[in-house]
Amino acid sequence: MKPLIAALKGRASDRPPFWFMRQAGRYLPEYRAVREKAGGFLDLCYSPDFAVEVTLQPLRRYGMDAAILFSDILVIPDAMGMQVSFQAGEGPKLERIARAEDLDKLSLDRVLEHLAPVMETVKGVRAGLAPEQALIGFAGGPFTVASYMVEGGGSKDYQTVRALAWSQPETMARLMDMLVEATSRYLIAQIEAGAEAVQIFDSWAGVLPEPLFDPLVVTPTRRIVSAVRKAAPEIPIIGFPRGTGWHYRDYRSATGVDCVALDTAVPMEQARSIQAGGCVQGNLDPALLLGDVNAMLSEADRIRSALKDGPFVFNLGHGIGQFTPPENVAALSERLREPAA
Ligand code: CP3
Repeated sequence: MKPLIAALKGRASDRPPFWFMRQAGRYLPEYRAVREKAGGFLDLCYSPDFAVEVTLQPLRRYGMDAAILFSDILVIPDAMGMQVSFQAGEGPKLERIARAEDLDKLSLDRVLEHLAPVMETVKGVRAGLAPEQALIGFAGGPFTVASYMVEGGGSKDYQTVRALAWSQPETMARLMDMLVEATSRYLIAQIEAGAEAVQIFDSWAGVLPEPLFDPLVVTPTRRIVSAVRKAAPEIPIIGFPRGTGWHYRDYRSATGVDCVALDTAVPMEQARSIQAGGCVQGNLDPALLLGDVNAMLSEADRIRSALKDGPFVFNLGHGIGQFTPPENVAALSERLREPAA
C-alpha cells in the first residue's frame, strides 16, 4: 500500500508521509509561468494539460508522498451556474445568494458535465506519479463554499452568511442540501477517475457558534462521507474543520472521516488524544516557512516526535503562503524524507 494510504487507514510509520496544503501555487515560479499561459485562474483549472503540469510541479522539486489535484473549491458554485471570477490580487468574486429566490439560479443538472475537464486532470496526474505517490482529490466543505456564495467572495468576519443562517434557516438548509449533493457527486467522480483519497476543506467552519455547527458542518459532512463511502468504501477521507477548537474532539466520530486534519492552533496534547481514534494530519505553522529555517525544522521535529506513535500524515496547519521561499520548502521536505529521530 502507498505510504499515504496506509497512514490514512491507521498505520503508524517511522517516516510519516507528507504533503503540504496548497503545495501548487504562486510561490513557485514555474506555476506563475503556466498560470500566465493559461489565462484566467478558472481557465487553468479547466485545462487538463496545464492543471496536470502544475499539480506535478511541487512533487518534482520536493518528492512529496502525495499530489493534490489542482482545482479549487469554487468550481462547485461555478458548475452550479453562478458567476465566479478571480481578479488579480483581489481574491474570488461571486454572484451573491441573499434570499430563497436566488437558489432558483442554481442547478445540479450540469455539474459533472461542467467538471469533466477536472476528471481528465485526475487521469493525467495518476499517469505521471511515481509508484509510491498517491493522488488526493478534494472539495470544499459545504459551509465554506456557501460562505463564498453568500458573502459574494472572501470575508473578514463572515457576518453575512451567519446572518442568513440565523434569519433564513430554510434557505440556508436548501443551499446546504444542494451543496451536499453537488459535492458528493464531484468527489465520487474524482475517485472514479483515479483519486486515491479525498480531503474536505472546511476552512471557515471555525466562525460558527455552537447551534450552527451541527447543521452547517457536522451533518452535511457526514452526508457527503456516507455518499462517498457507499460508492467507494476503500477510499480514505480526510476532514479539515479548520479553527473549530473544542469541536475537533468529536469530529471524526460525528462525521465518519478516516483522518482529521489539524489546524495550526491544535495543541499536541489534543492532537494525541484525537490520534487515539485514528489518523491525524497537520499542523506546522505555514508562517514558519517564511523565515528562519532552523526554527522551522525544530518545530517540524517537535510535531513529528509528538505524533510518532500513531497514524500520522505530516502537513501544514493551513496552506503555503504566496511569499514562501521555495528553498525553505526544499529544506523542510528534505528533513521529512528522513525517518523521525
Ligand atoms: O496545491 C493545491 O493545494 C491545489 C489546489 C488548491 C487551490 N485552492 C488552488 C488555488 C486547493 C486545494 C485550493 C483550496 C481552496 N480554495 C480553499 C481551501 C483551503 C484553504 O486555503 O483554506 C479555499 C478557501 C479556496 C478559495 C480560494 N481560491 C481563495 C480564497 C483563493 C485565493 C485568492 C488569492 O488570490 O489569493 C483561491 C485561488 C487559488 N486557488 C489560487 C490557487 C493556486 C491562487 C490563484 C492564482 O493563481 O491567481
